[in-house]
Amino acid sequence: MSEREQALRAAAENADQGHIFQFWERLSAEQRSGFLDVCAGIDFELVSQLAADLQTKADAGSAAGPEASTAPEPPELFPLERSGEAQTSATQARELGEQLLRAGRLGYVLVAGGQASRLGYDGPKGNFPVGPVSARTLFEVHARRLLAAARKYGSKTPWYVMTSRANDGTTREIFERNDFFGMDSSDVFFFTQDMLPALDESGKILMAALDLPFMAPNGHGGSLAALRSSGALDDMRERGIEEISYFQVDNPLVRPADELFIGLHSQRRAEMSSKAVEKVDPGEKVGVIGRMQGRMGIIEYSDLAPELRDSRDASGKLRFRAGNIAVHLLRRDFVESLTQDRLELPWHRAAKVMQVIDESGQPAQRAGTKFETFVFDALGFCNESVTLEVDRALEFSPVKNAQGSDSPATARADLCKLWSSWAMKAGMELPAADSDGVVPIEIDPLLAESEQEFVALGALQPKLHPTGHLYE
Ligand code: UD1
Repeated sequence: MSEREQALRAAAENADQGHIFQFWERLSAEQRSGFLDVCAGIDFELVSQLAADLQTKADAGSAAGPEASTAPEPPELFPLERSGEAQTSATQARELGEQLLRAGRLGYVLVAGGQASRLGYDGPKGNFPVGPVSARTLFEVHARRLLAAARKYGSKTPWYVMTSRANDGTTREIFERNDFFGMDSSDVFFFTQDMLPALDESGKILMAALDLPFMAPNGHGGSLAALRSSGALDDMRERGIEEISYFQVDNPLVRPADELFIGLHSQRRAEMSSKAVEKVDPGEKVGVIGRMQGRMGIIEYSDLAPELRDSRDASGKLRFRAGNIAVHLLRRDFVESLTQDRLELPWHRAAKVMQVIDESGQPAQRAGTKFETFVFDALGFCNESVTLEVDRALEFSPVKNAQGSDSPATARADLCKLWSSWAMKAGMELPAADSDGVVPIEIDPLLAESEQEFVALGALQPKLHPTGHLYE
């Protein structure tokens, strides 16, 4: 027995997970070596702790859960509708944001390690064609927004793209095949989040194959530790980056280089800030931003007691209306200090029926649990945080489900509605609406990122595609 095998067997056995070696005798030399590589990446101490928790404790959930001792409070919002003092501080903040962008103080982190299982799309979700006329992919749309910021501010926009082991190779190939979507390849940094084994009901690691434990990505909270272990934080420091703009792959309207948001966050010396859209329907299933025992955090829909969920303030708006759109700014030194030692974010569980192999090595379906950490739980470590309310129509229309809400169809309708309103304002001729009532217009973010910018361009000729009008 090699020393490596011996050490890994001992680690697995100490964690009461020795059964993962049960098929060893049936494996080829090559399979054995691959299997040991996977085992070497497993944190058995953590697995042991998660297995014990599974037997004893409820899901980490949110601090506002039923057992929380004090009721959560809504956060202080920097409002969308501004007058007086708020308007003045918005103007000052925007100027500060512009200065920071010009000085190249921003690094951009995209989390794209998810499995796109709800969308039912084969491959990295970033490769999903979302441009209603151009069929540009999510990756390309994000890249064009970063290119727009780089051009506008004459600075670099280094892009840190988080993948998972399952989609890392394909993601890199997609970027290479597309010439990094016009970005300088030296400004694109891929990093990979860790994986964790899934456990069965008795806390034992499930097996996906004879030579493979069932591994799942450790959640977007894994981005923080992975930024450190991959060297991305060092790269940021060397480039003089002070603030990290964090966004998800699924939202084609996300504005990673938002002057106002950057300025507000920096003015306040906030460690981590968030954007929110107004939740108008109490039943909408989004997490809301709140304060729990004085600390910022996200209260999951299922954890918000009905009386709080439905309660309204004097203006008649929902008290808990700061819907989380998963857009954050984090100070680089905050992430550095959080990840200096092991980062203790709470573990959330997802119970799933999984396709595995049973004790005899035959395919089987088993109830199991995957474990994830969430990046927004880092809000709980902040002393200062800004919550900026933004307009849903301008900034949020994610592609998550194959059908129904947050689907390709709703994103297409939302994007076309927004861009056709800009085109109308600019006096452009609109194409006819299609059978779904959608007016097929697309405006490239590299051309204009707001109605104001678009109108200022004056008369333009769109490119006429069979799919609609494209302004680029
Ligand atoms: C998430 C938020 C929700 C918010 C919504 C806004 C959580 C738990 N909830 O919901 O509060 O209202 O977005 O759109 O996040 N990802 C990884 N690695 C992972 C898991 C996810 O990179 O291990 C990435 C995905 O690629 C995706 C993003 O994180 O870009 C969001 O993940 P997803 O599981 O789709 O979150 P939602 O349930 O949609």
